[in-house]
Amino acid sequence: MTPESSPASAVSTAASPHTSSSGSEWWRTAVIYQIYPRSFADADGNGIGDLRGITTRLPALADLGVDAVWLSPFFRSPQRDAGYDVSDYCDVDPLFGTLDDFDTMLATAHDLGLKVIVDMVPNHTSSDHVWFQQALAAPEGSPERDRYIFRDGKGKHGELPPNNWESVFGGGMWTRTTKADGTPGQWYLHIFDTSQPDLNWENPWVREQFRDILRFWLDRGVDGFRVDVAHGMIKQAGLPDYTPPEDGASMGGTGGVDRDEFTPLEPLIQDPVTPPDPPYWGQEGVHEIWREWHEVLAEYPGDRVLCAEAWVDPLEKVALWVRPDEMSQAFNFAYMFTDWKAPALKRVIQESLDAFGGVGAPATWVLSNHDVVRHASRLALTADSPQGAGIGPKSPGKPDAALGLRRARAASSIMLGLPGSAYVYQGEELGLPEDMELPDEARQDPTWFRTGGEKYGRDGCRVPIPWESDRPAFGFNDTGASWLPQPAHWAQYAYDAQAGVPGSTLELYKLALRLRHEHGLGSGELNWVKGYGKKVLAFRVSDVTVIANLGEVAVELPVADILLSSEPITGGVLPTDTTVWLHTP
Ligand code: NOJ
Repeated sequence: MTPESSPASAVSTAASPHTSSSGSEWWRTAVIYQIYPRSFADADGNGIGDLRGITTRLPALADLGVDAVWLSPFFRSPQRDAGYDVSDYCDVDPLFGTLDDFDTMLATAHDLGLKVIVDMVPNHTSSDHVWFQQALAAPEGSPERDRYIFRDGKGKHGELPPNNWESVFGGGMWTRTTKADGTPGQWYLHIFDTSQPDLNWENPWVREQFRDILRFWLDRGVDGFRVDVAHGMIKQAGLPDYTPPEDGASMGGTGGVDRDEFTPLEPLIQDPVTPPDPPYWGQEGVHEIWREWHEVLAEYPGDRVLCAEAWVDPLEKVALWVRPDEMSQAFNFAYMFTDWKAPALKRVIQESLDAFGGVGAPATWVLSNHDVVRHASRLALTADSPQGAGIGPKSPGKPDAALGLRRARAASSIMLGLPGSAYVYQGEELGLPEDMELPDEARQDPTWFRTGGEKYGRDGCRVPIPWESDRPAFGFNDTGASWLPQPAHWAQYAYDAQAGVPGSTLELYKLALRLRHEHGLGSGELNWVKGYGKKVLAFRVSDVTVIANLGEVAVELPVADILLSSEPITGGVLPTDTTVWLHTP
């Protein structure tokens, strides 16, 4: 366990053996900005963002101080799951532009010193993909069918699905096909929407295709891949029935671990019972695929990153994804979903450093992305909001906006002080809240449709972001069109309303990112600082001490230069829901 030192003036001595990272690759310490292309910037004005729009706005990201951008999918797709349903992995969807536009964007990013990560979606294709169309046209048992997961149905006439698995988006995980003569045929598996058939990753042909797809983008010069549903690609042999626990997280995992009861001074204990993984998540066979992909990236000079979207518990298991010959990083969803409580945060941070550090990988940190309620709203919710359910007009426990923003600023100021690599989702640097008032008729997430409106889904975190407060669509484009309507009150969050304004959320992020680089926080070692009580999180990395007050009572600060504070500091005390960075050489 990482040693504790006493309040901020103490000099940490003992180095933790595996707190940040071992190696010099850029991604070990990088701050990676997620661009959701539909909603970032729209050059052609059709209401959906595009690659030319991204290129235009890249200088703002260089100015923000991030190291890399990750682009959610822009490949050819019928867009039934906002591009996570790919019909051609080696082309750009006309909605987003052309391969030339991609090359221009990539070159511009590189000129600005930004790395570019693209989003690979290997668990499933679109049902429009030629492979799936060929599979449907081919006879049962054919090589074409074996690229996907087709099975006979149960029941006298095969009228029942092959097992009881439920889709992440609601409804069953199987859809029955219709034969050429109009009679019902086999069923195919889809973890997500019916338009997203799962590939059969036991089939060497599928593996070979994807190695070539990786090379296609590596040849163009990309710096790595975020890998969608990395935990779902191999299914348990025999596809046994499975009933998830009531509180299971919808993208996977077991619904998280209760870290609230942790007392910081106690030794870390093993989490009690973690239920077994569902037969479609976290299976052993995925590791062989990552080793093959690792080899493909190694064919190219320089450091390239493979980042897993792996919704599995516990963190020790996630860490197996990032052993030295597998992926480079995995998202830390345990951190993302930790309650706003200091002991819980302390525990998950330490567990993350131990788990990832134990295999020589950097810890990663993330608070928001395109699948979860934005943290400027999530951190002030007063009712449960299961991942993927979203928040809408009729949801209970709506957050107080000011409290949410205050906590979000404090939370981001903790995250950007941690060693390892951090992910920032577009708009969080503006303090954007979730859009909780989207009208039903505007919704596009398949979750909304497949659950018959029971779950709002993820549209509320995907609304196009505001750039200029007095332009059409807040500068998202010139026409005012927007695939999801933007709330009128978002003018106050616009980039131009915050740039250069002391104390704005944008300037807070810029400062944090500048200081993070200057003080080498990404590659530093974390030492806990004690003496502030159970409701305060205090740690030291390099010559910076980060103190966050999550309690109700203000806390006296030691005498030291304040490098950054998430709220104004007066009278030498740290108010509630506030984080400071102190210079403690
Ligand atoms: C995870 C992606 O982040 C999410 O947006 C998508 O719907 C599913 N994978 C299916 O690809």
